Amino acid sequence: LPLHHPNRSTSAPPSEGRDFDPQMTSEKSEVIERNRRFMPGGTSSSARYLDPQIVFAKADAAALWDMDGKKYIDLNCAFGAILLGHNNPAQIESITSLTKGIDLVGLGTTELEGQLAERLCTNIPCAEMVAFCCSGTEATFHAVRLARAVTGRKFVVKFHGAYHGWHDYVSNNNLSVGRDMGPHVFESSGALPAALESTLVLPLNDLALLAETLHARKNDIAAVLLEPMMHNVGCIEIQAEFLTALRSLTEELGIVLVFDEVITGFRHAPGGFQEICEITPDLGTFGKALGNGYPISLLAGRRNLMMHMQPRALGGDVLFGGTYNAHPISIAAALAVIDAMQEPGAYDHLFALGAELRQGLENAARQTDMPLTVSGFGSVTGFHFGCGPAQSYTDLTRIDEGLDLKFRRGLIDRGFACSTTPLRRIHLTLAHTLNDVHQFIASATSVLQSLRDQQPET
Ligand SMILES: Cc1ncc(COP(=O)(O)O)c(C=O)c1O
Repeated sequence: LPLHHPNRSTSAPPSEGRDFDPQMTSEKSEVIERNRRFMPGGTSSSARYLDPQIVFAKADAAALWDMDGKKYIDLNCAFGAILLGHNNPAQIESITSLTKGIDLVGLGTTELEGQLAERLCTNIPCAEMVAFCCSGTEATFHAVRLARAVTGRKFVVKFHGAYHGWHDYVSNNNLSVGRDMGPHVFESSGALPAALESTLVLPLNDLALLAETLHARKNDIAAVLLEPMMHNVGCIEIQAEFLTALRSLTEELGIVLVFDEVITGFRHAPGGFQEICEITPDLGTFGKALGNGYPISLLAGRRNLMMHMQPRALGGDVLFGGTYNAHPISIAAALAVIDAMQEPGAYDHLFALGAELRQGLENAARQTDMPLTVSGFGSVTGFHFGCGPAQSYTDLTRIDEGLDLKFRRGLIDRGFACSTTPLRRIHLTLAHTLNDVHQFIASATSVLQSLRDQQPET
């Protein structure tokens, strides 16, 4: 296994890694209380909420430390935004050297952003042009609006369980375990009903229903938006014939096909999952791993579509703006990510570690006789309890959420940072080592064992 990528290692056992000085921090309970007093829920995104709450104070390579000095191997990796590892020295050097003498100008253009755009267009199959923004949500928003503008149609198709950001166009039927699966499960009060009602939600991998819907509504549907590998609920592979048919149906009916590669982009291949599945969408959205923790995202696509986003003075008709778009720090950060991922062995390392982790977790489930199903691709691993392999999100609505939560809490107790929300995937980075993975497998086995011991005799 090519598991020795030249990166710093943080492979001391997590629970022993108390090398952060707890004296430097104030009392944890005070911090939690202040954060609750001044920020809704005491955190800056509902997806980050942990119970019990953890206050993180340091991040380096594959590890995090909380303010008590407890070390964790990071398996959440900022929901996939960390790809090289935390505080990557080459990335810091790139930011320091490339942005010397410049910060956000916010007028005209800069040389750096064009350099990154050119490299992206060289790598990403659908990219003849790119438009930079700051978050995945912005990128999918622009994709939907552009698709509506170029087609003159109103409806967008998305798939059950898929998350594409928090804006109203797409915020229905996200990850909604234990809730209804109807066509319009709103995720937020205050969302504009007209926006949500213009979003059709279909089950993934149901080709007959897809074809019927696209044909029946062909004059209404502007875009089909999907993750080409559904990671928001762990990992549901999209059947090859489904993707192929989706491409030809959308082409035939003049519907804009958008691959949301906010998770898959750069993590699985420099050209995104479209490079792997060899299906080229009309538009692609990218974010997360591209910045390795710095805020950058983009919409990529065919020139004739993207040109609608140029300034009105040049003939554009789709508004595109953003004070922080193409911030030099984020551009330099992204250039460093592309450099690092083009090093020989980088993807081999990620894929080999991911395969090792999944194999170990499957063995642990078998040894402990626990109903754990493991799925994944490359450095992304999904797992769930109680319902076996999933073809679509509908299958996942039957998972055992109680067991899932106990498993995740057990991992956190043993020094592995992960989300406590069911179905949330875990990620590895270039900075993770085989040793990290083996420690994880040993700890996961011990959590499963203790869950097994707590189960009533059958
Ligand atoms: C597939 C996908 N699209 C879009 C988004 C939204 O990205 P952001 O959180 O950067 O706004 C996410 C975030 O998790 C995502 O997973």
